[in-house]
Amino acid sequence: GVSGKKVNVLVVGLDNSGKTTIIERLKPRPKQSTEVAPTVGFSVDELQKGSLTFTVFDMSGAGRYRTLWEQYYREADAVIFVVDSADKLRMVVARDEMEHMLAHPNLRKVPVLFFANKKDVPVAMPPVEIAQALGLDNIKDRPWQIVPSNGLSGEGVDNGVDWLAERLG
Ligand code: GTP
Ligand code: MG
Repeated sequence: GVSGKKVNVLVVGLDNSGKTTIIERLKPRPKQSTEVAPTVGFSVDELQKGSLTFTVFDMSGAGRYRTLWEQYYREADAVIFVVDSADKLRMVVARDEMEHMLAHPNLRKVPVLFFANKKDVPVAMPPVEIAQALGLDNIKDRPWQIVPSNGLSGEGVDNGVDWLAERLG
């Protein structure tokens, strides 16, 4: 096939936020899995998005694996940070991990896309509230965007990735 510019996209966020599910929605339909299991360590996929070839690093969000994230900061051309919109109890943990990541010297000033995932869950916080809880207004040194998504239906996923692709093309 035709493959254009190659970009490395690092996908992080707490365990169970929906990272692997969202990545499945980016694959051509026949290749999508409906059942996903918690990621062990990380997995890498190559996906075509318009004129871009995304090398996607799907990191585990489990506590014992989060130290692996920083191994890939240096290579990252973009970050996708997935938040479970319904996980109010761990919003502060997500904020801590996000701030820790943005402060890391190996992560360049690359664009960060936040998916406010699981928007279908009745108790999901709206994206503006999540942005406030995460303190996203404090991010002034790089482009960022927050986009509501439903990893199960795929709703919102293309919106977010289109935003990212515009910054990488
Ligand atoms: P780790 O690999 O452990 O870090 O988790 P993950 O972030 O990759 O989460 P994963 O994609 O495995 O999804 C966790 C659970 O959330 C699964 O049962 C998914 O089916 C479910 N899930 C993912 N996205 C959504 C969503 O938008 N809405 C709802 N209701 N469930 C979702
Ligand atoms: Mg996963």
